[in-house]
Amino acid sequence: MRRAAIAALVEDERVHRDLYLSESLFALEQKHFFANTWNYVGHASQVSNAGDYISLDIAGRPLVMVRHDDGSVRVLYNRCAHKGTPLVTERSGNTGRFFRCPYHAWTYRLDGSLRAVPLASGYDGTGFDPAAAGQGMQAPGGVAMHGDFVFAKINPGGPDFASYFGEALASIDNLVDRSPVGRLRIEGAPLRTLIRCNWKTYLENINDTVHPLSTHESATTAAGNVWQGRAADAPKPMAIEQILPFGAGHDFFDRMGGRVLPNGHSVLGTAFSIHSGYTALPEYEQAMREAHGAARATEILQHSPQNALCYPSLALKGSPQAIRVIRPLAADRTVVEAWSFRVEGAPDLLFERSVTYNRLAFSPMSVVAHDDMHLFQGIQKSLRAEGNEWVSLHRGFRAGELATPTLDVNGTNEMLMRNQFRAWVKFMTLDMDA
Ligand code: FES
Ligand SMILES: [Fe+2]
Repeated sequence: MRRAAIAALVEDERVHRDLYLSESLFALEQKHFFANTWNYVGHASQVSNAGDYISLDIAGRPLVMVRHDDGSVRVLYNRCAHKGTPLVTERSGNTGRFFRCPYHAWTYRLDGSLRAVPLASGYDGTGFDPAAAGQGMQAPGGVAMHGDFVFAKINPGGPDFASYFGEALASIDNLVDRSPVGRLRIEGAPLRTLIRCNWKTYLENINDTVHPLSTHESATTAAGNVWQGRAADAPKPMAIEQILPFGAGHDFFDRMGGRVLPNGHSVLGTAFSIHSGYTALPEYEQAMREAHGAARATEILQHSPQNALCYPSLALKGSPQAIRVIRPLAADRTVVEAWSFRVEGAPDLLFERSVTYNRLAFSPMSVVAHDDMHLFQGIQKSLRAEGNEWVSLHRGFRAGELATPTLDVNGTNEMLMRNQFRAWVKFMTLDMDA
């Protein structure tokens, strides 16, 4: 498929259904789009000790993130130089001082260089050079860290890390700055869900504020019934505090505001969000003031977006301290992982909030996500209906918006979604012939 054919699938305020349905387009996304974008790998706290690793796929390529014995974090292809065997097969573990291939036991140092080959004399006179770059575990085109957040880009070309994310990195900073000592730690395994939908349906929903009132009506009505008749200032159980705001009116979501950033990134809830009303924690706030100064502490704590998106693989919540990682597997299969952070120097309650929120809103057993998933899986089927090949993104569209890479809009404006598709075209076609 050529550049023009790809671009024709995305119009200013609507996109063609092939973006969600076509397996051949998904194969092109793996080759171009996901290889040209910076994708989230993991958090350095997941590999605290030398030899600790996690394994994952980005753009269909197998990667391993490992802690080197010099303390650095490395990202390498999970592929033996001999015949292509994966060097690790677990999602996480400790490989010791080196990787050992399970097939013929070639070993690799933690920086990926080849360490030893059994029966090495068999290679004498063959031209095989163990020092040659190709004999080690290779690194992807780009690896970058923002604090402890690790990202990779498969292709060596394209934008560098800082210009790709730009202002979007401030959302990561806000999450980190919520620790009075500036440190976060991933704790526990993620809540992992396989959804039979296209990854773009999921990403659009991250910026969709018109749906909660209808889609999540059953959960908010149930929470409302449980809480009915209590005094407005009665202390709420954590689950009630977290679920009730999903039922706030359309006006609430409209006023929360959104910020559109270049390259598909965004911040939803620039003014306030469903997380803004959580119970105050005076001791924690005092610790924050001592660490950051009063003005800066207030600024950090008041900024609690609904969702900040580091397109296309990472969605963050400053409060509660949680991230979602989006891992597309096929045109109709997407894995979403919800991870919780422990905020160092902060009370346990913050971690409890993060875990409770992820359970309530993002687990397959949640009272929120199952409603979304039911609809997403339905969309995957219903888009095949004839008579309309397009998905509408018209809400709030103004012709002039195309000229402005960074823009503040109202919270229900679908520009935050249109912005994703503009970036999709850009990174799909970046390395394609015209
Ligand atoms: S495939 Fe890894 S040592 Fe042979
Ligand atoms: Fe939802």
